Amino acid sequence: MKKQLAVLLAAAMTGTLLAGCGGGASDTTTTGATEATAATSAATEAAATTEAAAPAAEGGEVANADKPLVWYNKQPSNSTTGELDMNALSFNDKTYYVGFDANQGAELQGQMVADYVKAHIDEIDRNGDGIIGYVLAIGDVGHNDSIARTRGVRAALGTGIEKDGNIDPTPAGTNTDGSATVVQDGKIDGVDLTIRELASQEMKNSAGATWDAATAGNAIGTWSASFGDQIDVVVSNNDGMGMAMFNAWSQSNKVPTFGYDANSDAVAAIANGYGGTISQHADVQAYLTLRVLRNGLDNVDIDSGIGTADDAGNVLSSDVYKYEESERSYYALNVAVTADNYQDFLDSTVPYAPVANQLDASAHPEKKVWLDIYNAADNFLGSTYQPLLENYDDLLNLNVEYIGGDGQTESNITNRLGNPDEYDAFAINMVKTDNAASYTALLAQ
Ligand code: BGC
Ligand code: CA
Repeated sequence: MKKQLAVLLAAAMTGTLLAGCGGGASDTTTTGATEATAATSAATEAAATTEAAAPAAEGGEVANADKPLVWYNKQPSNSTTGELDMNALSFNDKTYYVGFDANQGAELQGQMVADYVKAHIDEIDRNGDGIIGYVLAIGDVGHNDSIARTRGVRAALGTGIEKDGNIDPTPAGTNTDGSATVVQDGKIDGVDLTIRELASQEMKNSAGATWDAATAGNAIGTWSASFGDQIDVVVSNNDGMGMAMFNAWSQSNKVPTFGYDANSDAVAAIANGYGGTISQHADVQAYLTLRVLRNGLDNVDIDSGIGTADDAGNVLSSDVYKYEESERSYYALNVAVTADNYQDFLDSTVPYAPVANQLDASAHPEKKVWLDIYNAADNFLGSTYQPLLENYDDLLNLNVEYIGGDGQTESNITNRLGNPDEYDAFAINMVKTDNAASYTALLAQ
């Protein structure tokens, strides 16, 4: 009863206290805010006195190193070996990663392209040379999700070469004559034609930003100018780059183009010849990103509102996500989006209905979250992920400050985490998967 009263008062006073002390104040600031409030009336004074202890115990004195922390979209890991950075993933007992199942998604993407080729075998070889030529846009050679997608496509088309027990994801450069050493000419079961990766490269701009759509738009211009009639299929590690190539060249040349992310514009383009894309269930990921923070802030079981229904009825079924305890990681599952089902995916920013119930603000009072997006210009994060986060932050009573990075330098983002004391929880999207320590160093101080 007493606890409930304190919680109610906390909700009623959130405005004042947050305005006064930013939700994570030192003792001095809390006292100052309490005094200011108490001065207004005797009733408020009583409330303020009762309340003074609550935020101190529940949030005010929590060290930054003990606050809930979620890594999302870039999993702390070695960009060369892919090995997970377990120090970062277990920074404290309220630290998690939220992403999607990269291997399952990569396999789906490869399968989607192979299925398309088989279904269109009679018309796919545009120049009739007996070779199905494709070009591949690579996002970031040091990002495990990008690597998985390159491998998935090469595996499904038979163009991959094994290296150290896995398919080599190295960009091939130009390979119109089939002489590259990182890929080989492939075959798909039941198809007589040869499949060749004509060209592939990492789409990084001169300033260093990866997954760069404009670079991909330029690349298809260069490629098509020198070997355009050999290109029968265009594949991309994501829709941002895929759509840039589709708009610049493949739509007008009627060459099927495949991406990843199921951004709204890419899904809409399926009606105009875009070959297909993969939904990484961003609606589930964005929810999980904020939900694991909410559960940490509420000090409840991490499964609340995830595998177990919460007090508002939010719950996810096991066909849309999985949790890997040893990796402290939540992974959303992927779904292929093609001409067959794209009508169901036209708006990528709608919250997922089973977890779209508003939390009660008295039981789950407002908290302040610092969240960064590594590149403010990233297509997927900007057009799909952030709009979803902005829907869920209201439903979960989180006051999120969104910070957009330049996609190139970690310090551009860490510089804006100057005062972690002001926040109750953190959501981090690194520029490079190796760089978790640049953030944890700030929280551990
Ligand atoms: C998305 C890409 C995006 C990248 C950013 C990936 O999961 O598919 O579109 O550029 O995340 O880290
Ligand atoms: Ca051909």
